[in-house]
Amino acid sequence: MTDGTADPGFVSETEEAEATEEAEAAEEATVTLRVWRGDAAGGDLVDYTLPANEGEVVLDVVHRIQATLAPDLACRWNCKAGKCGSCSSEINGKPGLMCMTRVDELPEGPITVTPMRTFPILRDLVTDVSFNYEVAKRVPAFAPLPAGPEGYRMQQVDVERGQEFRKCIECFLCQDVCHVIRDHEDNKQHYAGPRFFIRLAELEMHPLDTNDRRELVRQRMGIGLCNITKCCTEVCPEHIKITDNAIIPLKERVVDSSYDPVAWLGRKILGRHKRTAEEAAAAAPH
Ligand code: SF4
Ligand code: SF4
Ligand code: FES
Repeated sequence: MTDGTADPGFVSETEEAEATEEAEAAEEATVTLRVWRGDAAGGDLVDYTLPANEGEVVLDVVHRIQATLAPDLACRWNCKAGKCGSCSSEINGKPGLMCMTRVDELPEGPITVTPMRTFPILRDLVTDVSFNYEVAKRVPAFAPLPAGPEGYRMQQVDVERGQEFRKCIECFLCQDVCHVIRDHEDNKQHYAGPRFFIRLAELEMHPLDTNDRRELVRQRMGIGLCNITKCCTEVCPEHIKITDNAIIPLKERVVDSSYDPVAWLGRKILGRHKRTAEEAAAAAPH
């Protein structure tokens, strides 16, 4: 006799078949990374296929490749938390951090991982990013006047403006994607790139700073070459609005310094003296 309620232990044939199918699929699921291997002399893409693990990021798979299939695969990383800026690469052709790119959010099929194209290859996924450190040396440092009896005072709005730029983790993905240097090696001589435009904007907007870097930005940092494509903003893992909040205001300031008579008169009347490009460059560490 039955009371009409379903037997909790009963599993229909359909459910059983579905469960088996799922178990088999889970057992068979694999992930393939198509990794660029080589050095400055040349190289090629190599496929590595491993069992897929749930919740992994691309860097996890690279580490498993190193542990099991290719112990000599070179990649740079430190924090695995999106904070050190070391694991920059190009994933399916788009600049990104390997440690912040989830495998299950990428389209199905092999995942291509290549080194940043704008910088010289050292080995495999590791590039020589020293160009950026050379540019950094050319940025004149923060130079405040001596503090008054009450110390330094700033409005909160000025404090907050610079905070956004200070989130930069120096991953150089914005430098990598910027076509001005990505497609024109020669421009590296005359162009600082988006990472340094935010640094220069931060310093230029600082009310306590006395260095006037506007001519430097125009003449030697090449801001005129940026045509505001916003590609840098799109790839920034810290979501810094590089173009809108740094580059465009910096361009406006540079134009004001050269061509705006009202701004010139205002500076004369207010007597705000900032150093010239030459003075600012001379003050930079060499
Ligand atoms: S907006 Fe300017 S700095 Fe940013 S990627 Fe485009 S050209 Fe380069
Ligand atoms: S601005 Fe963004 S993309 Fe550029 S180096 Fe800093 S964190 Fe990386
Ligand atoms: S390992 Fe530090 S940002 Fe990816």
